[in-house]
Amino acid sequence: MQADIATAARSGQTVESGSPESARLAQCIGVPCEVFPGEKRVATVPDVVAKLIKLGFTVVVQSGAGAAANVSDAEYQKAGATIVADATQLWASSDIVFKVRPPTADEVALMREGGTLISFIWPAQNPELMQLLTAKKATVLAIDALPRTLSRAQKMDALTSQAGVAGYRAVIEAANAFGRFFNGQITAAGKVPPAKVFIAGAGVAGLAAIGTAAGLGAIVRANDTRAEVADQVVSLGGEFVKVDYEEEGSGGGGYAKVMSEGFQQAQREMYAKQAKEVDIIITTALIPGKPAPKLITAEMVRSMKPGSVIVDMAAEQGGNCELTEPGQSVVKHGVTIVGFTDLVSRLAMQSSTLYATNLFRLSEELCKTKDGVINVNMEDDAIRGLTVTKDGAITWPAPAPKQAPAPAAAKPAAAPAAKKAHGHGEASAPMAGNKLAILFGVAAALFWLIGANAPKEFMSHFTVFVLACFVGYMVVWNVKPALHTPLMSVTNAISSIIAIGALVQISPITGATDRPDSLITWVAAAGIVLTAINMFGGFAVTQRMLAMFRK
Ligand code: NAI
Repeated sequence: MQADIATAARSGQTVESGSPESARLAQCIGVPCEVFPGEKRVATVPDVVAKLIKLGFTVVVQSGAGAAANVSDAEYQKAGATIVADATQLWASSDIVFKVRPPTADEVALMREGGTLISFIWPAQNPELMQLLTAKKATVLAIDALPRTLSRAQKMDALTSQAGVAGYRAVIEAANAFGRFFNGQITAAGKVPPAKVFIAGAGVAGLAAIGTAAGLGAIVRANDTRAEVADQVVSLGGEFVKVDYEEEGSGGGGYAKVMSEGFQQAQREMYAKQAKEVDIIITTALIPGKPAPKLITAEMVRSMKPGSVIVDMAAEQGGNCELTEPGQSVVKHGVTIVGFTDLVSRLAMQSSTLYATNLFRLSEELCKTKDGVINVNMEDDAIRGLTVTKDGAITWPAPAPKQAPAPAAAKPAAAPAAKKAHGHGEASAPMAGNKLAILFGVAAALFWLIGANAPKEFMSHFTVFVLACFVGYMVVWNVKPALHTPLMSVTNAISSIIAIGALVQISPITGATDRPDSLITWVAAAGIVLTAINMFGGFAVTQRMLAMFRK
């Protein structure tokens, strides 16, 4: 039965099992319903199904898997997936299973022996699950174990994509519980002051919350023990509030460390002051592997204005606020304390789409041959970091990723170059160097030819042209690509200097007796009007574009 489903999904592939070709038979990716209570996300979405099929895989989805994220079976089918009725069929017919939450013991029991699972696993917190998976001889890639410091891994970083959604949703939950506007307004009915929001912890979720709250028009302040995030807070429209105590808070890898008692005391004083001033506090402080630091005391909650809101994103790790009740929204001392642990799931369509894209990027890395067969390459730092069990053996924790090789290429390149001088060199680096030398030689000869033969006037224009090319190249090359469009519009505006030509045409030259031709005057006047539009419009557009970057 399961074989039939997989074969049906493989649409038309009729390779006999056991034949040499069967070793490269496209693998089947299965997406089951999430069984964790209240979980609305799904591990893939129809758009991504189509991309996985292009990579050569076949895709099987359990009926109803996307229902809570508003994705119907029909949409999956339209994208090319096969729908199966229940979890037993799904797990048994899948070579690779994509999941969101770690599997339950019942789900592992359904898994194929030697199968592959890609999911959140949290191996440190789930040792029993790891044992069950090894007993199944499974290969498991834990998306939470991705080495986040590898820039190449960012596209697969589901922790980041999901925390970003959670940070956004935390602000929306706060806005929902708060009885006022976020932005300040002056209306006929009176003046409304902007809401003041304080964000504790400016990691991924915190930064997303800062951007969202600032976007809604609130006055946003934030604090983090890692001073290096201050610039990011400001660039998102927030104000970084420092603790009046000198101590470096970075524990490496973008994470924090536990701070000294002296720092914590100074931080408590600053937080107590903020609690009295602000309307909303969103807490996201976390040190991996440690219980959430208690930053907001019961006393601070009591000191807040009635109607204020606290959203405690760290509720699942015990909470940053002493009065948080995980999973609940409660009102204490007139303050609403939101301790929802399913913020990501509350934006199921968005978070599923981002998660599905992270898994697709990972699939691309696993299947570089694009033939629907994965290769768990343990030599690849990112894949190695993710792989927590391989063919039943525990491979977690992974050794620290190798450092990127230092740019030491200069020395070895010199040796072949010397060899070449003796007639032995074949390496490509000296070849490139030779090509460059030839190019320079040809260009120099060309310039000499032009210089020797061209008329004097041509040479002066030509020199300006060459210098303009050089300056233009250097300007464009040294400006970030994102700023090329505003650069173009400002250059366009500056090009309106040609207006001077038109001005010369319409203004009588001092000492000249004859008046300018009236047709030329009119054409010049029209030229001035058009250039003025170009000039002022160009600067205005540039101004608006740069404002977008400043936001
Ligand atoms: P992250 O590690 O990127 O950020 C945590 C930040 O807290 C870091 O910048 C760190 O420097 C800072 N921090 C640590 N101790 C601090 C202290 N004493 N004072 C001030 N700042 C401190 O983590 P991420 O991904 O942003 O997640 C933040 C929290 O949100 C975590 O607790 C995570 O579990 C939670 N979360 C909750 C969700 C929910 O549905 N409730 C969903 C996703 C994440």
